[in-house]
Order: sequence, then C-alpha cells, then structure tokens
Amino acid sequence: MYVLGIETSCDETGVAIYHSKLGLINHILYSQVEMHSEYGGVVPELASRDHIRKLVPLIKQTLAESQLISTDINGIAYTAGPGLIGALLVGAATARSLAWTWQVPAIAVHHMEGHLLAPMLEENSPAFPFVALLISGGHTLLVKVEGIGKYLLLGESLDDAAGEAFDKTAKMLGLGYPGGPKLSALAEHGKAQLKFPRPMTDRPGLDFSFSGLKTFALNTFNASEPYSDNVEQNKADIAAGFQQAVAETLSIKCKRALQQTGLNRLVVAGGVSANKQIREFLTEMTDKEHAQIYFPRLEFCTDNGAMIAYAGCQRLMTGQHQGLEIFARPRWPISELY
Ligand code: KG4
Ligand code: ZN
Repeated sequence: MYVLGIETSCDETGVAIYHSKLGLINHILYSQVEMHSEYGGVVPELASRDHIRKLVPLIKQTLAESQLISTDINGIAYTAGPGLIGALLVGAATARSLAWTWQVPAIAVHHMEGHLLAPMLEENSPAFPFVALLISGGHTLLVKVEGIGKYLLLGESLDDAAGEAFDKTAKMLGLGYPGGPKLSALAEHGKAQLKFPRPMTDRPGLDFSFSGLKTFALNTFNASEPYSDNVEQNKADIAAGFQQAVAETLSIKCKRALQQTGLNRLVVAGGVSANKQIREFLTEMTDKEHAQIYFPRLEFCTDNGAMIAYAGCQRLMTGQHQGLEIFARPRWPISELY
C-alpha cells in the first residue's frame, strides 16, 4: 500500500510517500524559516499562504521523483492537529480533495503521534511497549506507548514546552528565530557554571515546568554587566547553563518514567530531540539503567511528511479512515486517541 503523507501544521511543508512493505519511498521538506525569521517567529497567516503556494508542487515533485502516478497511491494521510488552524486547513483540505478525486481513503493523523512513531522509520526501531518523551515547540509529553494508538499520558509540561523555552530564551539573548538550534550552537562556547534550577525534580510526578528556566536566564542576563567585554561570554554561559538544566531535567524525569512503568525502552522524538547535549544526557542515563534508547535520524526529529505517511499507513492498514469531512483540530490532546 502506497500512502501519501502531508504535513502542514506549522512552518514546514512536508510531503512523503511510504509503502507498507517497501518502507519510505521519498520525502521532501520545504522550510519557511527564512520567511518567518524576519519577524522573529512564525506568522500564522504567512505560514498558511506559503503552504498553499508550496503544497501542490511538492506533491507533484514527490510523485515524479518516486516514479509514481496518482493511481499508484492507495491512501492519503494528513496532519489534522494540533497546530495552527490555517496551516492545518491547507493540508487537510488538499488531502481530502485529492483523496476524493483519486477515490482513495484519507486519514487524519495526530501530529504528536507522527513524532512518536518517527523512530519506526529507522532500521533499529523499538518494539512495543515503550516510554516516549516527545519534546517539540508546542508540547512536552511523557507517554506510555502500548501500541499504535494506545497512548497513556504520564506527564506533560504545565507551562512552556521545552522547545518554546529554548525559543524564548534564545530570543531574549538576541539570537533570533528559530531559537533552539541557535541557542544550542551558542552553548558550545559557554560553561555551564550558573546554578540553574532543575524544575519539579524535587517532588514526585512526571510533569514538567520550563518557564522558570527562561525567567532564571532573563534575570541572570539582566544582572550581568551590559557593557562589559564579557557580554558574548555571558550569553554563551547562560545558554550552556540553560541547555544543561533542560537536559538534566528531562533525563531525571525519563529515568523516573522508566522506573515507574517498569519498561526498558525509551523513544525520544520531536524537534528538541535533535539537540546534541539532550541526546547525550538521555543516552548516558539509559545506559546506566540498562535500557535501550531510540531517536529518529536528525532530519526526522523536526517536522516532516515521512512520519505522517508512516503513522497514516499504520492506521489505514487496520481499516481506519475519515469520512468526507475536512478534519482539523488546533488543540487535540493525544490521550483522546486511545
Ligand atoms: O517538532 P518541531 O519541528 O515542531 C513542533 O511540532 O513544534 O519542533 C520545533 C522545536 C522548536 O522549538 C525548535 O527551536 C526546537 O524544536 N529545536 C531545537 C533544536 N532543533 C530544533 N531545540 C534545541 N536544540 C536543537 N538542536
Ligand atoms: Zn512537530
């Protein structure tokens, strides 16, 4: 079964084709980063308009590069939420219309389920059940995954998502957008000597809170000497302290989640899982716990069409699909999938 996957939930237009037996056939990604960077963040209306411009040409290109034609496609998967409503509607309406024209089923995919299943695109993929840490720009979730669609929420962020905290801290340090990778690059030049807190680790539970780290970074930055020769070094040290605090906090919570569930497999996905130090901290922790850790390849940590095609294919193969409605939900708790 060939499944066309479409991702348009935020600022990347992703298109992919996944085959149930042959695996990933092709994927193409167009990032709007350059367009939004002028404004210091994603402008939703511009995002929607750009998806409209790019999506159909990308679908044509993906098919052509795969040497496939429309009649080869057996189903269409699209991101239905959570995300920016205008952006979601572009993908959903296009997918639904194409499915109707091509007379194939369409399936609405939860964006975070896409992230969660992204490591399944790798050769060394995890078996169920496992614990998943999903760290993106909009969400920080710890989930017990029993199988496709069987997701039990163990913990989540009570305020900023991990990626959001990276982005806001980066903005405050004047690093621009997208903040996560820029802050991470700056942290390489800094020393993590500032005493950043490890939020919510001193009490039981698996929820997160990252907004305090951002405030700590801001206060530290404001307290530093603005005209001293050390401004750049101060910024790098704040970036390093912040990043290490996030990495260690995530590691403490993941260890707790593995112990609490009795599971020994950890999946880490979502844009922030591209972060080198976070990958290192979590790998070290799982090694000590004698657990296995699984990440998607770097290009599938951030948004992409491949994870949506994969997730959609799994659901279509079990006979699930949507009716003729255009399904889009800007807010959509992952626990509702169970
Ligand atoms: O999963 P994603 O592409 O989109 C959402 O679903 O939100 O995640 C984007 C987030 C952004 O906050 C971005 O700054 C962050 O992932 N990110 C990173 C890195 N690469 C992307 N954060 C820290 N370090 C990175 N290397
Ligand atoms: Zn995402």
